Amino acid sequence: MISPSLLSANFANLEAEMKWFNQSSADWLHIDVMDGVFVPNISFGFPVLKHVARICQKPLDVHMMIVQPEKFVDEVKALGAYLMNVHYETCPHLHRVVGQIHEAGMKAGVTLNPATPVSVLEDIAADVDLILLMSVNPGFGGQKFIPHTLEKVEKLRQLLNRTGSKALIEVDGGVNLETGRLLKAAGADVLVAGNYIFSAPDPAKACEALSAL
Ligand code: DX5
Ligand code: ZN
Repeated sequence: MISPSLLSANFANLEAEMKWFNQSSADWLHIDVMDGVFVPNISFGFPVLKHVARICQKPLDVHMMIVQPEKFVDEVKALGAYLMNVHYETCPHLHRVVGQIHEAGMKAGVTLNPATPVSVLEDIAADVDLILLMSVNPGFGGQKFIPHTLEKVEKLRQLLNRTGSKALIEVDGGVNLETGRLLKAAGADVLVAGNYIFSAPDPAKACEALSAL
């Protein structure tokens, strides 16, 4: 599956972006919420996202790059989001947060930074719907893919099998046709792509090429 990242869209004309997007082969819309604290950048907040949610006809895959993401479960739910991803690094009470997301009626995802080993998921994997592996340090679009992620995808697949988890494996950062192909071969289920899709002369076509991998 492909989840194009809104971060690389033209914010001056989101309506036009959603027009091609709604007709495209994309499966989800990936939404990066940043706070300038957990990550060194700020993207957009709920006043903007409620308008995007209104015109987007695909499931929202919300990636919370903020401290204390549990404070915003209701806001994410109000967007009608399908999935809420929280970072392992921001949640000392991760099991509780996953429960709150489920109680709100959303799928729950846990995200790992490049330096966080997949082994930390041992006791939570069976309770979540998706694991998001960062293949760049979070905060910016257009960064270079960290090759070590490929090994992490393979290790994560083994961990999911061992723990009986049905969680999907999603990868985010530096995805293009080349890295996407490698990730798919390694066992990734969902690819996030920002720059590769939105900077292409024909974004729908770029999305289609990723979908066809
Ligand atoms: C990075 C974000 C990504 C970003 C990916 O912090 O989490 O979702 O938009 O962008 P690309 O595909 O350009 O690396
Ligand atoms: Zn993201």
